[in-house]
Amino acid sequence: MKVLLVGSGGREHALAWKLTQNPELKRLYAAPGNPGIGELAQLVPLQATDVDELAAFAQREAVDLVVVGPEAPLTLGLADRLEERSVPCFGPKARAALLESSKKFAKDFMTRHGIPTAAHRAFTAEDEARRYVESQPEGPLVVKSDGLAQGKGVVVAETRGEALAALEGMMGGRFGDAGRQVVIEERMTGEEVSLLAFSDGKTLLPMIPAQDHKRAGEGDTGPNTGGMGAYAPVPAFTPALARETEAKILRPLRDALAQENLDYRGCLYIGLMLTPEGPKVVEFNARFGDPETQALLLLLKTDLLNPLRACAAGDLAGQTLEWRDEKAACVVLASEGYPGNYSTGRVIHLDAGLSPDDEILENSWIFHAGTARDGQGRLVTSGGRVLSVAARGASLGEVLARVYARAENIHFEGCCFRRDIARGKAPVPRIGL
Ligand code: AMP
Ligand code: GLY
Repeated sequence: MKVLLVGSGGREHALAWKLTQNPELKRLYAAPGNPGIGELAQLVPLQATDVDELAAFAQREAVDLVVVGPEAPLTLGLADRLEERSVPCFGPKARAALLESSKKFAKDFMTRHGIPTAAHRAFTAEDEARRYVESQPEGPLVVKSDGLAQGKGVVVAETRGEALAALEGMMGGRFGDAGRQVVIEERMTGEEVSLLAFSDGKTLLPMIPAQDHKRAGEGDTGPNTGGMGAYAPVPAFTPALARETEAKILRPLRDALAQENLDYRGCLYIGLMLTPEGPKVVEFNARFGDPETQALLLLLKTDLLNPLRACAAGDLAGQTLEWRDEKAACVVLASEGYPGNYSTGRVIHLDAGLSPDDEILENSWIFHAGTARDGQGRLVTSGGRVLSVAARGASLGEVLARVYARAENIHFEGCCFRRDIARGKAPVPRIGL
C-alpha cells in the first residue's frame, strides 16, 4: 500500500507516526512534509496547494490513498482532481469542504436540518450589516468573515461598538474575498469540545472528545491562533452529553450529509459548545484538528490506515475504533510573536538536558510543524507553530508533567508555550527533574 500524505504540520507528523505503524504500508510519501515527517516518509517537493501537481504525482506513482491534512487543498478541489484520476482520497471534495470554507454555507446547512447552533444572519452589504447590529440590544455579538481566514476571521464582540468596528475591519477588505460576506451570530457560552468523526458519506464514526486551547495567552487571553495545546478525553463531555450529542447533532448531521449528497469522505471536525441549553455546533472543519490530532492519535489503540481507507472507499460501516483507557495532552511550542509577526531561522535544540534512557522519552513524542534544515543541516524554526510535544499516561496530571518536562528541554530563541494546557482539569505532580 502506497500513501501520499499532504501537509506539513504537527497534525501531519502525528498522522505519519500512526500510519507507519501499519505493516501493510509499504511506502509513505509526504508533500511537502517537514524534517520530522522526513524521518518516516519520503518527502515530495510539492506544496499542499499545488493540487494539480499533487493529483498528477499520485496517479503517476500509483498511490493507493491520498490523505489530506490541511483545509486549503480541499477547498482548492484536490479531492475532485483525484477523483478525476480515480485515486482514492481521504478528504472531502470542494463542495463538501464548504462546511469549513464558508461560514454561511455551514450555518444555512445546519438551519435547514435543525442542527443546534447559534442563531445567525448573513450580510454581503456593509450598510445592511451595520443597520442590523445597530438594531440589536446592547450586548455581545459574534462577527465572522464568511471565508477562510486562518482562525482570525472571528470576533467575539462584547458591545455593539466592538461589533461595528469588527464589521468595518472585515468588510473593509482586511480579509480580501473572505470578508466579502459576514455572518453575525448570537454569542453562546459554555465549554468547547472538539468532536472529530470519520465519514464515508453515509456513516459517521466519532472519535473520543478532545479540547483545544485557541487563544495565544495563558488564561485564554490574547488573539485566536490555530491552537496552542489540546488534551483528550474531556471530562466535561459526560456520557449523558455524549448521548445528547449523538441524538441531536450526530444523527441529524449524518442524515443531512446523505440527503444533500455531499459524499463527505474524510474527517469532519465538529466544534461544539456545551451551552446551558445543551450542546450546539460552533463550527465545522473539513479535516483533522491541529493540535487535537496529536493528542487523539496517541490514544487510538486500533490502526489508522484502515478507517482512512474505508472512508475513501465509502465503506466505513464495518470499522470500529478502540481507544486506550488513558489520557493524552499536547502543548505547542511557538515562535515569539505568533500569531502575528515572528522571526524564523532560529536553531532548535531538542531534548537538550535529557539522558537517552530518560523515562520521559519513552512516553512522550515531539511532532514537528514549522521546522526546516538550514544550509548546514541544523534544525531551525520556519513557522509560527514550531513543534508540539505530546504525551500519554494513566492520569492527566502525569501526562502534563511529562509534556512540560519534555518541553522545558527544547530550546530555541523566542520559544513560547502556554503553561496552562488542561489546567484545572487535574493536579500536576512534580516528577524527577
Ligand atoms: P470559529 O472559527 O467559528 O470556530 O470561531 C473561533 C472561536 O470563536 C470559537 O472556537 C469560539 O471560541 C468563538 N466563537 C465562535 N462562534 C461563537 C459563538 N456564536 N458564541 C461564542 N463564541 C463563539
Ligand atoms: N485546533 C483547531 C483547528 O484545527 O482548527
